[in-house]
Amino acid sequence: MANEVLELEGINKFYTESLHVLKGIDLTVREGEFIALMGPSGSGKSTLLNILGCLDKPTNGGYFLGGQDVSSMSDSQLSSIRSRYLGFIFQQYNLLPQYTVVENIEVPLIYQGIRLDSSTKKRCEALAELVGLGHRLDHRPMQLSGGQQQRVAIARSLVNKPQLILADEPTGNLDSKTSLEIMVMLSRLNEMGKTIIMVTHENDIAGWARRIVRMRDGNIESDEANEPWPLPEGAPELPVHLLEGAA
Ligand SMILES: Nc1ncnc2c1ncn2[C@@H]1O[C@H](COP(=O)(O)OP(=O)(O)O)[C@@H](O)[C@H]1O
Ligand SMILES: [Mg+2]
Repeated sequence: MANEVLELEGINKFYTESLHVLKGIDLTVREGEFIALMGPSGSGKSTLLNILGCLDKPTNGGYFLGGQDVSSMSDSQLSSIRSRYLGFIFQQYNLLPQYTVVENIEVPLIYQGIRLDSSTKKRCEALAELVGLGHRLDHRPMQLSGGQQQRVAIARSLVNKPQLILADEPTGNLDSKTSLEIMVMLSRLNEMGKTIIMVTHENDIAGWARRIVRMRDGNIESDEANEPWPLPEGAPELPVHLLEGAA
């Protein structure tokens, strides 16, 4: 069996004494998985994703990420874990408007304290090319479509060679044709071995994942393998060689 990326043991989250939002969540995620996290509004998906992403802490329970117990780490330790082990993709892209495509992809390196130079720049350019934006390196977010902005965000999520990519409704702001492009890209990255956890409330989108975890009222209601949608005829390959050494 593939190596474990993370393990949650009895994770509870209380926002107040009476607001019990996660009720003893257990979850093991292995390398190469592609998980869709589903469930009705208010069921705890974002809370769980925030904990997985070390953006928030559980009230109690164990969270082991790459073998380290992160549930009791300080905020600064968590931010260091975030910048080294995790890649994030958000519904709103969260790009910096004043930065170019390449500069946006560089941002997580800055957080990691890596000095930018010609070799980091080359790597970020390769990642832009990987997501099909090799001809838009100096554009700013305003000059790009929503789908192109999300592709920048995907490239940015790869730059620190993350153990795990977390995506919160990555196609939530996109039309169905563009959503398909993004999902094909995430599927290709998963084929290359990237581990992905994606929150979505759309069955069509969850259908790209290989495992579907459904939440209800702070509990995991079901956790099942899924045969992902077949890639559409002629779906573009990703230029994998660009990823080697780059992500
Ligand atoms: N920061 C917060 N403070 C207090 N309550 C919160 C906070 N974030 C979420 N909640 C509550 O926790 C519950 C789960 O929310 P959330 O994790 O956002 O669910 P989902 O993403 O599945 O819609 C909801 O009842 C929500 O109102
Ligand atoms: Mg939510």
